[in-house]
Amino acid sequence: MPNENQEVLLKVDHLCQYFKMGPGMELKAVNDVSFDIKKGEVFGLVGESGCGKTTTGRSIIKLYDITSGSIYFKDTRICAGTRSYRDAIKAAKAKFAATLKELKANGAPEEKILAAKEEYKKVREEQLNNIRAAKDDHKNCDKKYAEKLVAAVDAKYKSILEKASPEELPTLQKEYRKERAYARKQKLITQIQMIFQDPIASLDPRMTVKEIISEGLVIRGEKDQKKIDEMVYRVLELVGLVREHAGRYPHEFSGGQRQRIGVARSVIMNPDLIIADEPVSALDVSIQAQVINLLNDLRHDLGLTILFIAHDLSVVKYFSDRIGVMYFGNMVELATSDELFKNPLHPYTRSLLSAIPLPDPNYEKQRKRITYNPLADHDYSVDKPCMREVSPGHFVHCNQAEFEKYQALLAEKENA
Ligand SMILES: Nc1ncnc2c1ncn2[C@@H]1O[C@H](COP(=O)(O)OP(=O)(O)OP(=O)(O)O)[C@@H](O)[C@H]1O
Ligand SMILES: [Mg+2]
Repeated sequence: MPNENQEVLLKVDHLCQYFKMGPGMELKAVNDVSFDIKKGEVFGLVGESGCGKTTTGRSIIKLYDITSGSIYFKDTRICAGTRSYRDAIKAAKAKFAATLKELKANGAPEEKILAAKEEYKKVREEQLNNIRAAKDDHKNCDKKYAEKLVAAVDAKYKSILEKASPEELPTLQKEYRKERAYARKQKLITQIQMIFQDPIASLDPRMTVKEIISEGLVIRGEKDQKKIDEMVYRVLELVGLVREHAGRYPHEFSGGQRQRIGVARSVIMNPDLIIADEPVSALDVSIQAQVINLLNDLRHDLGLTILFIAHDLSVVKYFSDRIGVMYFGNMVELATSDELFKNPLHPYTRSLLSAIPLPDPNYEKQRKRITYNPLADHDYSVDKPCMREVSPGHFVHCNQAEFEKYQALLAEKENA
C-alpha cells in the first residue's frame, strides 16, 4: 500500500483534451483534470460512459497532442499542451488594450503608456517561452531520454575500453556498439503500456499471437529471435496461457483469452505503469474475476503501478488504493478507496454508489437510487467550483459554500 512519502510515478497536471467538432465548436472530453499516481499504487478512474476516461489514458500515452496542461512521468514532462499559455497572451493583450484606452482617455503621460506596454511584452515573452518549452518537451522527451542512456553507456565503456587488452578490444567494441545502438532506440514512453478497452479491435487479426506480443520488443530494437521466443513463452505462461497458443490467430480465442493476450503484450515490455482501460467490462462475471486476479498477481509479482479505468465502482473498490471519479470531462472527487466508500461527498459519487446492488434482501428493499442532476444539485452562478481538499487526501470539486457544507458533514459523522 503506497504511503504519503512514496515516489510519484505519474503526475497529470491540469490536463485538457478538446476535440474539434466543426467550425468554432469543441468537445471538452477532458477538462482540467489533475491527479498523481504513486509507485506501486493502483489508481482507479471511474465514471459513466463518455466522461473522458479513455481520453485521459490515451492522452497519457501520447496518442493525442493534448490541448493544455502537462503530464510528467518519472519527473520528466512527456506531454504538454499550449492552450493555457496562448490564452494568457490573449488575456494580457486584452488587458493592455483596455489600459491603453483608459490611459489615453485620461491624457496619461507617455511613461505610463510605455510601462503598460513593457508589462504586456514581458508577459508575452514569458508565455512564448512556455510554449516553446512545452513543444520541445512534448516532441523530444524520448530523444532526450535516449541521449541520457547513450551517455551512460559511453561513460560505462570509456574506462572498460581504456583498460582492455588488444585481444579483448574487438569483442568489447562490438558489445559497446550493440549496447549503444540499443540505448539509442529506447523510449521513456514504452515504460507506460496500455491494455485497450476493446479486446477484439485492439488485436490485429492478421498477426499471430507471437507477432502481436513481441511487436513492441522488435520495435524497441530486439533482434535475437531465440530471446524473443523465450520472452513470449514466459509471458504467455505468466498470463495463464500456454506456449502452444503463440502460433494461433486472435479469432481463435475467447474474449477472456484475448484480454490476456492484451495483458501479455503490455507486460512483455516490462513497463513501470500499465493503463488498464476497462479490461473486464466486455467479459462475463466469472472471467472478470480471473482477469482482475491476474492483474492483481502481476502487480505484486512485477511491482507494477496500474491506472485502472472502469465505469463500475464495485469493480475498482477492492483493487484500487485510490479512486478518482470523473463526470463529463471533470474530476469530481478523489480519495482513498476506503474513504470514498465511507464518506462519499459529491452528489455524483453518491449516485454512483447508490446504483451498486448488494446481495442482501433487506438492504435491497431499502436501497434508494440517488439521481444526479447537476443543475439542481449545484448553484455555480456566482461562486465557481474547483478541486478542494475537504479532509487530508480527500478532494472534491466544489465551491466555497459546498466545501463548508462537506466539512460540516464530515465533522458531524465523526462526532456521531
Ligand atoms: N477521437 C475523438 N474525436 C472526437 N471526439 C472524441 C474522440 N474520442 C473521444 N471523443 C469524445 O470524447 C468524450 C469522452 O470519450 P471517452 O472515450 O474518453 O469516454 P469514456 O469515459 O472512456 O467512455 P466509455 O466508458 O464508454 O469507454 C466522448 O463524448 C467521445 O464522444
Ligand atoms: Mg472508454
